[in-house]
Amino acid sequence: LREHEEFTKVKNIAKIELGRYEIDTWYFSPFPPEYNDCFKLYFCEFCLNFMKRKEQLQRHMRKCDLKHPPGDEIYRSGTLSMFEVDGKKNKVYAQNLCYLAKLFLDHKTLYYDVDLFLFYVLCECDDRGCHMVGYFSKEKHSEESYNLACILTLPPYQRKGYGKFLIAFSYELSKKEGKVGTPERPLSDLGLLSYRGYWTRVLLDILKKHKGNISIKELSDMTAIKVDDILNTLQSLELIQYRKGQHVICADPKVLDRHLKAAGRGGLEVDVSKLIWIPYK
Ligand code: ACO
Ligand code: ZN
Repeated sequence: LREHEEFTKVKNIAKIELGRYEIDTWYFSPFPPEYNDCFKLYFCEFCLNFMKRKEQLQRHMRKCDLKHPPGDEIYRSGTLSMFEVDGKKNKVYAQNLCYLAKLFLDHKTLYYDVDLFLFYVLCECDDRGCHMVGYFSKEKHSEESYNLACILTLPPYQRKGYGKFLIAFSYELSKKEGKVGTPERPLSDLGLLSYRGYWTRVLLDILKKHKGNISIKELSDMTAIKVDDILNTLQSLELIQYRKGQHVICADPKVLDRHLKAAGRGGLEVDVSKLIWIPYK
């Protein structure tokens, strides 16, 4: 989403309750004015409706019959499920998700039509229902080949590999579409770190296994990562030389191993055989 001067506004809501967590917020989010004087908001973890008072939430929970996000479950592996929510078909849910997400996203604006987006909501499921751990949004049609608009792992779930899972998932969707993709800019610091880690690991894994020369275009075809992002990643790892007007990858196995060790953990794997999805038309 577009850069915006919103970050200059003061933070309004300091805490939220969501499922079994109370979470401190990070940034301003443009909730409707009647919520502006609220210190804490209470969210229904399933439909994402939010309320000013705990008793309202308790009353709501007795009659809310959702136990997972609305929309289609397109992936299930073990206790992890991914739901695809169409912003046009589930407008209120999508708007609530945006309000919630903005509390943790800087320099992203929400004055966008949720109709134009799909939301991929990742859940940990148990006998009480499917609990959202994070999500990413994706434009239904992107002129700029964006395959992800906003990504969030809710703070209690951060640093466990879900971010890399969401990123990997966005590229699996691009592969199914037969397109290359890239995240919408600007990236936050944490966003850039996560993407850098993902790109590095995916590219190094291929370079390690591959015998003989491989071009950047071929890497892009295999991974659905945009050529520019591949070039930048390999350049920052000093694996690119410029010879006779061409970029050449120089992949010394020892250098690759050193970089792979530094690239951190692989994160949770996306099991592509468990993804049942057809591209949006
Ligand atoms: N400090 C240092 N490095 C970090 C941190 C941190 N707090 N958090 C993540 N990283 C880096 C690490 O390299 C980590 O890999 P490692 O754990 O193997 O070392 C890597 O990022 C990814 O870690 P994950 O556990 O897979 O990612 P996580 O589930 O924490 O989600 C995300 C990452 C989505 C960026 C999360 O931090 C978040 O939601 N932040 C707030 C919202 C945000 O900034 N979103 C991106 C905006 S840009 C955009 O939307 C296009
Ligand atoms: Zn509800």
